[in-house]
Amino acid sequence: MWKAAIEDAVLKTRRNIEKFGDKFPHVSDGGRYELRDNDEWTCGFWPGMLWLCYEYTKDEVFLEAARSTVRGMKKRMEENKVLAHHDIGFLYSLSSKAEWIVLGDEDAKNLTLEAADKLLERWNDKGQFIQAWGPMGDETEGGRIIIDCLLNLPLLYWAYEHTGDEKYRKTAVIQADKSRRFLVRGDDSSYHTFFFEPVTGEPIGGATHQGFTNGSTWSRGQAWGVYGFALSYRYTGNAAYLETSKRMARYFASQLPEDSVAYWDFYAEVTPETPRDSSASAIVAAGLHELIGLLEPDDPDRAEFADLLERSLASLVKNYSTAGEPEAEGLLNHGSYHVRGNLGLDDYMVWGDYYYLEALMRVERDIPGYWYDRKERTLG
Ligand code: GLY
Repeated sequence: MWKAAIEDAVLKTRRNIEKFGDKFPHVSDGGRYELRDNDEWTCGFWPGMLWLCYEYTKDEVFLEAARSTVRGMKKRMEENKVLAHHDIGFLYSLSSKAEWIVLGDEDAKNLTLEAADKLLERWNDKGQFIQAWGPMGDETEGGRIIIDCLLNLPLLYWAYEHTGDEKYRKTAVIQADKSRRFLVRGDDSSYHTFFFEPVTGEPIGGATHQGFTNGSTWSRGQAWGVYGFALSYRYTGNAAYLETSKRMARYFASQLPEDSVAYWDFYAEVTPETPRDSSASAIVAAGLHELIGLLEPDDPDRAEFADLLERSLASLVKNYSTAGEPEAEGLLNHGSYHVRGNLGLDDYMVWGDYYYLEALMRVERDIPGYWYDRKERTLG
């Protein structure tokens, strides 16, 4: 089943190369992707899909298209275009870092190091955290950290490995520790974001941006936690991160409906109209594969996580993917971007498509995406 799903995804991605041109898909509206001029937090996911397809097929069409997106990311860096936010890791891990991982290209490596420096610009040294959004020290946004940022930390760990400069590792570790302490709650659920007093670093309290309420659990936030803490464990070996990823995965599993694909928020009332967020389940599928690979062979949770991965990915393929829709542009139906903001409901989300494909590539071919270096390269 995985292979057929990949073949369908590769076919659609190939067709989209011409359709998208030098633009970047974001979220869809009425079945068509909104195409952006490389100015969104999501613009790394399309390059990531192209690199995955290249690794799977070794077809130069994907290589050329992927390289062209990296040129676009270089231009974006040169123009410093919409880079004043924490999502630099999503943008450059899946584009230039992917090129480095796949081809060993030195320019791509240098661009990725520049991106790591850009992410460090979000560091509030007094408060000791990475500020999510807005101008540094901003009156409303100056104290906010966000759980999504856990997927941006691999860029910093990676930069430490390539430069030996402690500042990257230290920043990532403090942010991961703070996220663990303040974003993950005692019952293993999570806040989407948390506010600190920006000058003293005093904790203020949890708040949401895209979730149902401040105290609810936004399913995609929980998903970022599952995958993000597993990656922090891979880079640091700190067992507390592994344990946190496991706790968050168990909680995610405990909240799933019968078909094993998450609703948009675990506290939202479930009615026939309640939106799913297939992208949250796609992130967790890829993250579970990562997590399982990090567990000891006799870990008591291994079988349960393997079963959850199998069940959710199978349900995504059967019930949520566009595999039976030859003309579809996206890969995964029923994603939700921002339900409370009435934005991107029941649509394709490019990160949903990316993580769906990454999860499939992981289970079928052991291609783990571009969050960390590998022992071997897929030379072009
Ligand atoms: N990182 C933004 C989101 O998940 O919507």
